[in-house]
Amino acid sequence: MPEGQTVLSLLRKAEDKLSSVSHDLARRDAEIMLAHVLDTSLARLPIYEQRIPPLHIDQFERCVRRRQAGEPVAYIIGEQEFWSLTFKVNEHTLVPRPDTETLVEVGLRHLTPGKPTRILDLGTGSGCILLSLLHERAEASGVGVDKSSNALAIAKMNADQLGLLSRCELREGDWYEALREGEQFDLIVSNPPYIQSSDMLALMPDVREHEPHSALDGGVDGLDCYRRIASDAAFFLCRGGTIAVEVGIGQHEDVADLFVMSGLEAVSTHADLAGVMRVVAAKKAAES
Ligand SMILES: C[S@@+](CC[C@H](N)C(=O)[O-])C[C@H]1O[C@@H](n2cnc3c(N)ncnc32)[C@H](O)[C@@H]1O
Repeated sequence: MPEGQTVLSLLRKAEDKLSSVSHDLARRDAEIMLAHVLDTSLARLPIYEQRIPPLHIDQFERCVRRRQAGEPVAYIIGEQEFWSLTFKVNEHTLVPRPDTETLVEVGLRHLTPGKPTRILDLGTGSGCILLSLLHERAEASGVGVDKSSNALAIAKMNADQLGLLSRCELREGDWYEALREGEQFDLIVSNPPYIQSSDMLALMPDVREHEPHSALDGGVDGLDCYRRIASDAAFFLCRGGTIAVEVGIGQHEDVADLFVMSGLEAVSTHADLAGVMRVVAAKKAAES
């Protein structure tokens, strides 16, 4: 085996190549991709002096080239960790973001442990929000809706992998249109597209050129999907039920207003770990 084919030298070369696209995360990205190629976890990545077989070196170098071309690491390795669970992803699903864990936290507060509850996730994508909630609440069941059949195929694989298929239904459709007459939910969650159309070009190239625009573009003011979701929320919520949605930076007041205009009450806003107002929640009155 020639010199220079150890874990350490491979990582160093990759870090160098990735510095212009991954910046401070170049080393981390290289480690994640090498762990993927070696079919191991980051924590179990072999010690730096260990030599890597040529086949794996070729595979790793292909991953590095894809990353150099701007493809997100999650698409290259085909998965992303979210809520300490592993979710399959591909170019049809948004890559689950850590910010979105705030929505899971808020949602959980409204799902009483031990009580059979029904959850609706609008724009489920990879299924990360719905499936994380179902994973935490063994008595809950739910419906994930998306207009992308390709995203739903991934959500189904994730539900299967997490052993949650029996407690979730995945339906294709335009927001509430996928629901049946009379269906109501204790909790509605959504992380809809919320980027203003005019800001789409200013997104980081990784996002703009690789993630599905249908998962990102929220219309002229970024609020189109919230209008749709808020307007019919009361109809599909059980009495006393909660809706909680993720919002983009600076959108929380507008979305809170939309909930109030739709007749919902007890509107609350919740910050993510960076202190950004990230989730807006509201309730349907317990009695009418
Ligand atoms: C921002 S992504 C969120 C994906 C996933 N829930 C997450 O948090 O990672 C928004 C999702 O909404 C879906 N979507 C967009 N418009 C929709 C519509 N009219 N009806 C249903 N789903 C829609 C997109 O396909 C995409 O999967």
